[in-house]
Amino acid sequence: MSTQETELQKIRIWDAPVRVFHWLLVFSFAGAYLTAESEYWRLVHVTLGYTLGGLLAFRLVWGVVGTRYARFSSFVRGPGAVLRYLKSLRSGQPEHHLGHNPAGAVAIVLLMLMGFGIVATGYATYNDLGPDWLGEVHDLLANGMLLVIAGHLFGVVSASLQHKENLVRAMVTGYKAGAADQGIRRTWATVAVALVIAVLGFWWLQWQSAPKPDAGTAQTSQAVQTAQAAQSGQNKVSN
Ligand code: HEM
Repeated sequence: MSTQETELQKIRIWDAPVRVFHWLLVFSFAGAYLTAESEYWRLVHVTLGYTLGGLLAFRLVWGVVGTRYARFSSFVRGPGAVLRYLKSLRSGQPEHHLGHNPAGAVAIVLLMLMGFGIVATGYATYNDLGPDWLGEVHDLLANGMLLVIAGHLFGVVSASLQHKENLVRAMVTGYKAGAADQGIRRTWATVAVALVIAVLGFWWLQWQSAPKPDAGTAQTSQAVQTAQAAQSGQNKVSN
């Protein structure tokens, strides 16, 4: 979509749910990745993994019913469009897209599919469902996703430079420069707030089910006392 001939102004491209989804996804993936190896942080890892799954499920729905640039139909393109876009970058006259460009969309779809794969294999492993190698697939997918994220970041930075457009800022504020009639009308802040409340509520519920350190200590010391009492009883009998 060319915006070069029209007068540009600040227009809203990303609605609030897309932006909240994106940054919660970044937080959940980063947190889950960093806590993956530790037994101590297991509940945090699992909680952030489920959050990732919930966010992706939300985005699937929003990709159908959401605003213009959030819809999959507006940015998921076939290989022809991707090649055309990549060729245009080399020609020095890069095609400009107000929403996701076709190459960026490939990384986005891949990230979403890998995210679902990670959540499904993680759930199966955590709940002892299915064969043991699912755990290996889980690790492999998580590391593969890290590679795709590196590609995603490279794409974001290079597209920002090519188009002289700060894409990261747009993913924070929702705004880009474009023709007045190309912006979205509503930001759907209430949906974004509902998403944040759902995530915080889920985290709170998970926190409630976490083993309390005090209760653990009390139980342990009670168990030690019981064992000691049993031992002294045995000693008395044998004396
Ligand atoms: C865990 C790491 C990350 C994942 C899984 C991820 C995933 C995604 C996804 C799924 C989208 C599509 C958003 C949508 O339409 O709903 C997206 C877009 C985007 N992401 Fe990320 N992202 C990650 C990290 C980052 C980071 C660290 C940055 C910036 C520093 C970033 C910047 C962007 C930008 C600017 C877009 C919009 C690209 C465009 O204009 O087409 N992402 N990302």
